[in-house]
Amino acid sequence: MIRVLGIESSCDETAAAVLTDSGEVLSNVIHSQIEEHKPFGGVVPEIAARSHLEKIDIVVTKALRDASLSLSDIDAIAATCGPGLIGGVIVGATFAKTISFASEIPFIAVNHIEAHALSARITEKINFPYLLMLMSGGHCQICVVHDMDKFEILGKTVDDSVGESFDKVSKLLGFGYPGGPIIEKLYHEGNCNAFSLPRPMCIKDNCDFSFSGLKTAVLVASQRCQSEKQKKDLAASFQKTVAEILAFKMKQALKICSKKKIYISSVVVGGGVAANQIIRTSIDSVCQKFNIPFFAPPIKFCTDNGAMIAWAGIEKFKMKMFDGLDFRVRPRWDLSTEFDPNQP
Ligand code: KG4
Ligand code: ZN
Repeated sequence: MIRVLGIESSCDETAAAVLTDSGEVLSNVIHSQIEEHKPFGGVVPEIAARSHLEKIDIVVTKALRDASLSLSDIDAIAATCGPGLIGGVIVGATFAKTISFASEIPFIAVNHIEAHALSARITEKINFPYLLMLMSGGHCQICVVHDMDKFEILGKTVDDSVGESFDKVSKLLGFGYPGGPIIEKLYHEGNCNAFSLPRPMCIKDNCDFSFSGLKTAVLVASQRCQSEKQKKDLAASFQKTVAEILAFKMKQALKICSKKKIYISSVVVGGGVAANQIIRTSIDSVCQKFNIPFFAPPIKFCTDNGAMIAWAGIEKFKMKMFDGLDFRVRPRWDLSTEFDPNQP
């Protein structure tokens, strides 16, 4: 049995978890910084980095204790080494490297986006290649995951990420941070048909996204809102429009896969926005029409967490993909796309 300790610190969660290669979650500890950033309406990088520093040893110690393990039982330590807010990434990666050095445990550098991409495999047997819609606060893209480290990007955002658009819309409507869960809740309170909003770049055969025009349309419409009720209706209409856009893009991606003869096993979503039930349902209904299995990770593995980092570590461990302690952390780190699916 392989046991990997995973450490996540790239945004506003300090997290650590221990997983086994069978996907058993022995522990999963998360310290959320939401309360620390709330007064500022969004994540403040300096506050985030300091908070990670204050909490990292407590979180990692608790992850080991909850798993009833000591460091000598751990086969590898995986840590997010990018992309993300670099102050926080440095804290988690340096902590992991230090334990690795002192305890002579192999170190694995994990790409945070790749961890989101693989997170559905913690609980489900999902074979490569699969179609992934990755939706987080920093990223929004559709790609075919051919294998570990082998991604074929079909489309990505040309401006904001989808999570960012949730956060900005919530902020401009005065509903606060974090926007995603707040707007999802308002969807059930407001009238989602009250406002007709644009669906940018929803054209045939195109998998790219654009959310800044939609956000501006919400801003313009918000100036006509005269009551709290109308603002809730606008939030609900935004949520509905985003779900429609993502479902449309999923349809285009499935058509492209079929045209390119990419035989995907299933459709998978990942990232914080994948926690959104309205979006999950609308993508699921597209998959049902195409008769393709749809998998969404449990909500706790959608938003940032240590379990997905430990799992990515396990997948890399199996492929003997270890890293040196001189691995440099990266604020930007795109998925590996040099992969050419037409080459053997
Ligand atoms: O993956 P994640 O936790 O962090 C990044 O890697 O960026 O994603 C955070 C994003 C935020 O923009 C947050 O508003 C959004 O995910 N989010 C949601 C929901 N929960 C979190 N968006 C829509 N609906 C949700 N329920
Ligand atoms: Zn994330």
